Amino acid sequence: MPSILFVCLGNICRSPLAEGALRAEATRAGVAVVVDSAGTGDWHAGEAPDGRAQGVAARHGVDLSGLRARQVRAEDFRRFDHVIALDPQNLADLRRLAPADATAALSLLLDWVPGREGQGVVDPWFGDAAGFEVTWAEVTAAARGIVGRLGGS
Ligand code: 4NP
Repeated sequence: MPSILFVCLGNICRSPLAEGALRAEATRAGVAVVVDSAGTGDWHAGEAPDGRAQGVAARHGVDLSGLRARQVRAEDFRRFDHVIALDPQNLADLRRLAPADATAALSLLLDWVPGREGQGVVDPWFGDAAGFEVTWAEVTAAARGIVGRLGGS
């Protein structure tokens, strides 16, 4: 079963949305995956996702209320097949944090969306609800790409 960890900065906005979107798309496609999310930072450890993130997910039928933020740790780079960064800064931080015996494949979330390779998911934290809808659309497109490429493996 493929295992995927999504990583952003705080683990309260973008990566919980990616986690929820992938879980929903995998369920819809009948594909079994292990999914989790984490942050490169620890400021929000133990917190539920931002209310605006919970709101946009709920509007799309996905409940994020049970998720709790945590910081990425060395064992994540061995436990997960894929560690997927939400933006290029997150990816640079992951490369710096990865232990020497890391086995996970590192990528950017939008590398999984044809035509969006190399781009970052903009942090909606400073914006309004409309920004969170953009984030939801991006993480959903990526979730579909991930299910399409990993489904059945
Ligand atoms: P996230 O958004 O990385 O998508 O979870 C952020 C949330 C909080 C902060 C930064 C980014 N913060 O600095 O508190």
